[in-house]
Amino acid sequence: MKSVQLKQELPEVSVSSVTKNQDQIVILGGVPLRGEVQVSGSKNSSLPILAASLLASRGQSVLHNVPSIADVDIMCKMISSLGAHVTREDHTVIIDASHLKTSVAPQKYVRQMRASFYVAAPLLARLHSAEVPLPGGCVLGTRPIDYHINAFRKMGAQITVERGAMLAKAERWEGAKVLLDHKNSSVGATVNIMMAACLAKGTTVIENAAREPEVINLGDFLNKMGGRVSGAGTSTITIEGVTELHGAEQEIYNDRIEAGTFIAAAIATHGDVRVRGLSPDHLPVFLEKYQEAGVSISTGEDWIQVQASSPYSGVDISTSPFPGFATDLQPLFLTTMCLAQSKSVIQETIYDGRFNYVPELLRMGADVDITDNTAIVHAVPKLGAAQVKSSDLRAGAALVIASLAAEGRSEISNVKYIDRGYEDLATKLQNLGAQVARQHLPTIDTEEVPQPGLKISHK
Ligand code: EPU
Repeated sequence: MKSVQLKQELPEVSVSSVTKNQDQIVILGGVPLRGEVQVSGSKNSSLPILAASLLASRGQSVLHNVPSIADVDIMCKMISSLGAHVTREDHTVIIDASHLKTSVAPQKYVRQMRASFYVAAPLLARLHSAEVPLPGGCVLGTRPIDYHINAFRKMGAQITVERGAMLAKAERWEGAKVLLDHKNSSVGATVNIMMAACLAKGTTVIENAAREPEVINLGDFLNKMGGRVSGAGTSTITIEGVTELHGAEQEIYNDRIEAGTFIAAAIATHGDVRVRGLSPDHLPVFLEKYQEAGVSISTGEDWIQVQASSPYSGVDISTSPFPGFATDLQPLFLTTMCLAQSKSVIQETIYDGRFNYVPELLRMGADVDITDNTAIVHAVPKLGAAQVKSSDLRAGAALVIASLAAEGRSEISNVKYIDRGYEDLATKLQNLGAQVARQHLPTIDTEEVPQPGLKISHK
């Protein structure tokens, strides 16, 4: 009875509303999630692979399982503005990049999304020239791109930074030995150098390369395009340059962070959820830590089942590059630790600003002390509903999880951040029994965003 009454208080759900960036998500929490959920394609695999499609001087690339999310919209617009012909139909994106028309990347896309900087490598490799605005810092912290620029210089580019943009020219474009930072082993720098090296003369070796699954997905695509990449997924990647790449077909991996979001939501609500479409190998430490906390987790080749009816204890984590505990999962994990039976200590080693969501959790009754990069999470018996605001993508997801656990009506604003990386989050949660809806508030962003089914082409 109670749940029927609550449901009637909710506004209608809308499913595709990436332009409605004044929307909020309304949740009537306290309902254990139950059922099965299918994970969508990975944002962080799609973005470099979309950029890499610019490397093909002949033939079309056909990308399957591309999620319908705002960051993909931005990348499609970015590569289209450079001359690629882009068509989207459901989760398939077809790109013809035979004729690039400019090596100047529009500022507006890079300002909206750091990963727009991925076009720097294909532009340099194919046109030997690139003018790409620097992405700058973001709410997560300073986020420099010095590794990318140093590598491009080693490969022969002359680079200056003028008016906030990287201006690069490469009369010679050659393979090089690139040593990345051993602690950070940047994903972005690894994928940018892999793309750059495919059309360079000779051999490139990346040491301390990032080992994330997204790097493997890109390496696979580059090889299908005629590239010669070996070692993707290990800390040493070797790329033998070739003179030309062609379009290819590629399946985008499913999104491990989205999977982690549903797992954390199931745990916070003491639910029972099977997450389909993800190999447990893509979430190694995350799953182990929950098992250590006493959560029952079973796995198959491409599914993970969480049964979280019993209380669980607090466990400590420290973020690190893959196969370590992913920083993108940290806000989700910390939120569940708020509701554990004992204290936990969460260390963030990748970003200096990744506890930005904690003040919002405190407003919901969490008890967390932060000193520098360490959060001490004191367990509380429950969280309370509140009006909260997301400050970035994973912060937004953490607040959704907290709201699902908290009894009463929560409202999460700044949904535009959640739309950057989650496809149909509200609908998928509804299918798990959550009382969640999207509420349309007046729209202020009127810029056209390409939707699946629309054709985007340059004139
Ligand atoms: N770093 C440098 N210099 C560089 C590049 C990176 O110092 O030139 C440092 C960064 O400041 C950071 C660390 O290296 O401390 C790791 O940064 P990385 O380059 O790996 O991050 P990224 O490639 O910009 C990707 C994901 C992020 C994710 C990080 C870490 C994409 C599009 N983004 O970013 O995802 O947090 O790797 O795993 O793949 C998200 O999806 O919410 C998200 C932020």
